[in-house]
Amino acid sequence: MAMLVSSWSKDIKSLPENYVFPPDQRPKELVAPLYNPPIVDLTKSTDEARQQILEAGRDFGFFQVMNHGISQSLIDEAMDVLLKEFFDMPAEVKARAFTAADSSKRCRLYTSTFQDIVGKYSVEVRKLVLKILDLICEGLGLEQGYFGDELSRIHLLSVNHYPRCPDPSLALGMQRHCDPNVVTILFQGDTNGLHVFNDGKWIGVEPIPNAFIVIIGCQLQIISNNKLKSAEHRVVTNSEVDRTTIGYFIIPSYECFVEPAKNFG
Ligand code: OGA
Ligand code: NI
Repeated sequence: MAMLVSSWSKDIKSLPENYVFPPDQRPKELVAPLYNPPIVDLTKSTDEARQQILEAGRDFGFFQVMNHGISQSLIDEAMDVLLKEFFDMPAEVKARAFTAADSSKRCRLYTSTFQDIVGKYSVEVRKLVLKILDLICEGLGLEQGYFGDELSRIHLLSVNHYPRCPDPSLALGMQRHCDPNVVTILFQGDTNGLHVFNDGKWIGVEPIPNAFIVIIGCQLQIISNNKLKSAEHRVVTNSEVDRTTIGYFIIPSYECFVEPAKNFG
C-alpha cells in the first residue's frame, strides 16, 4: 500500500526524502495572483468572446471561462463521484487498480452511477470545448469546422489528486510542462495550486467559482503558427487540504499530421 500516497499522507509530519525535489526545481519564489487575469465570458457577444480568447491565447496561453452553461450541480456531482468512487475508497481496493508497475492493468472500479454522472459531465465539457475551438477557428480565419474532425478525435478525462503536503516548499504536485495535445479544459474547484509561467515569472491561477481553465496545448500553438501560445504550467501543493482537479484533453487522431494551418503558410 506504500505506493498509494493518499493512504499515508494525512498522517505524516515531514516529507519523505524521495518526494523532495532538487533545490532548483522547488517552488521557491512567492507567486502573486495576476492583477488582470484572462477571463472569457461566454454570455458576451460572439465577437467579444472570440477576441478575448485570441488575446488570452496570444498573451498567456490560457484563460478561464465563465458563464459557460454547464451547471454547477453537474460539476459538483462529477467531482463528488470521482472522489467517492476512487480516491475515498479503501486503500486495498485502490491498490488493485494501481498501474505503475503494470501498464496493461485496467481500472475496473466504475459503477453505473459513475458512468452516468461522469458520462454526462464529459458530454457537456466536450460541447463546451468544441464551441471554444469553433471560436478559435473563426478568430484565426480558418475554414469552418477545422478542429471538428481529425484534430479533436480523441477525448481523455484525467483526474488528478494532490494530497496535502507537510512542506509545500520542497515539492511540486506536477512538474513544469506544456500540455502536448491541442487543448485542455481543467476544473480546479476552489483550491489554488495551478501556476502558469508568464513574462518570466510564475503566476497563480486563482480559482473563480464555477469557471473552467482552458490551457492551449503545444499542438494548437503549432496549428496557429504561434498566434496562440502553449502555456507552460506546474502545480504546487498545500499543507491544509487535498486538491482534486478534472482535466479533459482534446487529442488528434493518431494518424493526423499536425502542422501550421495552410492559411499561415
Ligand atoms: C495536467 C495539468 C493541472 C492541475 O493534468 O496536465 O497540468 O491543476 N493539471 O491539476
Ligand atoms: Ni498540464
